[in-house]
Amino acid sequence: MTPWAEPVVTGLQCAVCGQQVDIAQPLSFVCPQATQDDRHHELQFVSEVVPFRPFEDPNPFIAFRRYLAIDAFGAAIGLSDGDREQIIRELNLAVMVTTGVGFSRTPITRADALSDELGFSATGGIWIKDETHNVGGSQKARHLFTELIHLVMTERAGVAPWKSVADRPPLAISSCGNAAIAASTLAAAMKWPIIVHVPTFASETVLRILKDLGADIRVCERRESDPPGDPCVLRFREEVANGAIPFGVQGTENAWCLDGGRTIGWEIIQDIGHRTSRVFVQVGGGAFAACIGTSFQSIGVHPKLHAVQTEGCAPLARAYEHAMATGGARNAGQRWNECMWAWETEPWSLADGILDDETYDWLPILDAIADTDGSPVVATEANVVRAHELARSLTDIHVSATGSAGLAGLLQIREEIQPDEKVVLIFSGIDRD
Ligand SMILES: Cc1ncc(COP(=O)(O)O)c(C=O)c1O
Ligand SMILES: [Zn+2]
Repeated sequence: MTPWAEPVVTGLQCAVCGQQVDIAQPLSFVCPQATQDDRHHELQFVSEVVPFRPFEDPNPFIAFRRYLAIDAFGAAIGLSDGDREQIIRELNLAVMVTTGVGFSRTPITRADALSDELGFSATGGIWIKDETHNVGGSQKARHLFTELIHLVMTERAGVAPWKSVADRPPLAISSCGNAAIAASTLAAAMKWPIIVHVPTFASETVLRILKDLGADIRVCERRESDPPGDPCVLRFREEVANGAIPFGVQGTENAWCLDGGRTIGWEIIQDIGHRTSRVFVQVGGGAFAACIGTSFQSIGVHPKLHAVQTEGCAPLARAYEHAMATGGARNAGQRWNECMWAWETEPWSLADGILDDETYDWLPILDAIADTDGSPVVATEANVVRAHELARSLTDIHVSATGSAGLAGLLQIREEIQPDEKVVLIFSGIDRD
């Protein structure tokens, strides 16, 4: 089959205020209507739904290039087809040389022992996509790689506001774990300075890895003068206001993270086909589940999306209920204040990577739940613990409790699922303990 020949993304549009942004606009990180104090805007990519005909290549950013917004962006700012492919290959090589691992499709296999244990039949079962050997040890680098490609394309086309590599503004991120490691890994590969804002409770292991990667680590304590909200995010936004480039995995701070994350969904559909009935995705800030949802929509497939949180922090499930009560889950952008606000009590769970008190990228997740007849799932802590135990004893994947939290969602609603259904989990992060 001949691969699709043209970029399919046509532009960006805010799901809250409707503002359109030209695909040729460089550094289009946030909606032009968003301000330092009002981040309740969400730029989304607008695409044509066309036949799904990827290139054959082990690197997902090459294989699915036509479906990625960076391909449309590169073309719109004057880069040739060859230049666009070359930039991706070059950046991937830099990552590989620095870390020994480049971007490559991740494996998905039927988890036979786990499927048996949970009562699935031979024709159904649980398929696990393993992201633990991806660049940086989690799915996060996929989101960040399209942010990086966007920046380098901007430079190559001569439309960056800085004049030379030496004048590059620093990258900045706020994260306590995998996203910070993935961002610092890509930054190290590019020798691009990065400022990482971490909380006072960041783990020693994470801090050591970040230090080895050469990140400028800023431990953020709450200041008396701070408004409510995560002090790491506040300091991150201050750096960005001072000229740093947002380089994190929240679509509300840099929409380009919502591009590369979609490669996971496309790989799933290409590898195990359209008969997938459900996908369980663990939700923290929400970019991951948002991307799984939009990847399916972009190629017209609709397995049920289950967005999994834990009982110790479930702002998305609460937003879903409020959205349903105020007009439905779809197009809830203008109901942001009525639906999504920070979790009031101290978030807690063994799955400590999904304790974001606010699901920043909730809008595309709710749209995908509505489109696929899916649901939010709140897993009990007992199921989070059991999921991690099952994952570690019945698969050979060295997954963290955050990375196996989708399984906790499956355990939570196991009785709703038929034994012959084909269910997908994404083990998203390695256990560093
Ligand atoms: C391993 C792992 N899985 C899933 C998530 C959730 O991703 P998101 O914050 O995009 O919802 C995270 C986030 O930190 C993570 O580290
Ligand atoms: Zn907007």
